[in-house]
Amino acid sequence: MQVGLGFWASKTLLSAVEIGVFTELAKHPEDLKTIQGRLGLHPRSAADFLDALVALGFLRRIGGVYYNTPETDFFLDKHKPSYIGGILEMANHRLYRFWGSLTEALRTGHQQNESKDGGASPFEALYADPARLREFLKAMTGISRGTAIAIGQKLNWKDYSTVCDIGCAQGDAVVQFTRLNPHLQGMGFDLPEVGPIFEDYVEANGLADRVKFVPGSFFTDDLPKADVITMGHILHDWNLEQKKMLVRKAYEALPEGGAFVVFEAIIDNDRGNNAFGMLMSLNMLIETPGGFDYTGADCEGWMREAGFRSTRTEHLVGPDSMVVGVK
Ligand SMILES: C[S@@+](CC[C@H](N)C(=O)[O-])C[C@H]1O[C@@H](n2cnc3c(N)ncnc32)[C@H](O)[C@@H]1O
Repeated sequence: MQVGLGFWASKTLLSAVEIGVFTELAKHPEDLKTIQGRLGLHPRSAADFLDALVALGFLRRIGGVYYNTPETDFFLDKHKPSYIGGILEMANHRLYRFWGSLTEALRTGHQQNESKDGGASPFEALYADPARLREFLKAMTGISRGTAIAIGQKLNWKDYSTVCDIGCAQGDAVVQFTRLNPHLQGMGFDLPEVGPIFEDYVEANGLADRVKFVPGSFFTDDLPKADVITMGHILHDWNLEQKKMLVRKAYEALPEGGAFVVFEAIIDNDRGNNAFGMLMSLNMLIETPGGFDYTGADCEGWMREAGFRSTRTEHLVGPDSMVVGVK
């Protein structure tokens, strides 16, 4: 029942992020009447909505006053650099609606998002609207932050001096890698429309002297040369043939000894434990014409086929792992 009616809790949290509950309470704790007025809640809904958030563990109520928990204050206050609610904003605006058509996707194998009625690339429709583009790129920061920090700490970075993150979105991964490893020079490679958003983000993080944007398409251009090439949430967007082409291009861009690091919700080899990874693959069914998630063994196989001499899969945080291929 918890899973079957899980959308009740999910939508309550998504609406709380949309309305700005956690951002408001991060300024100061408030009583019911004040928060109801500040957020424009109807008197019929306010107490039930806020107390549901208390019961779900996202707020605390002490003597009639509502407070964020330490976690919601850190992760869901829009004004903090630690904010990761972008993915929840996108889930609220887009995915929640599109997942309503999951059964249709299961029967037809067709995507159910803005490109449902045709459209060449899953990114074309998304990028046609600048506000949607910005929301999507920010959302990626939310889903990748913890994993990017783990890679920034775990890879043998001292052996390398340059890194290029392919399909870098807003740029958070390359920001985390270079912030944690001050000797590194970083690049972000993505479609040209992403450039200004990437550059603003890198500038805001004080890394403009060490991190540059390289515009291009990984379908028509070679990848920039670097000692480490990373791809986060890229391979799962594309079909098998496109995946193998991207792995080959990464191999070509690396020097001997260079490392290719693939990170996302890599599915366990038995395909029975990483539920988030399996659901992410269904999300690719909703979002893309041919994308799917895959196991560490699948990815290591594509790397070996492209010529990588050693490969390994290493767990990072939560459902995410990295697959590393050394040339
Ligand atoms: C799912 S997002 C992943 C973002 C980021 N790497 C992460 O893990 O958070 C996919 C990224 O691939 C980029 N992309 C899509 N098509 C591309 C292409 N043909 N060439 C380069 N980048 C592309 C998108 O703009 C987007 O930033």
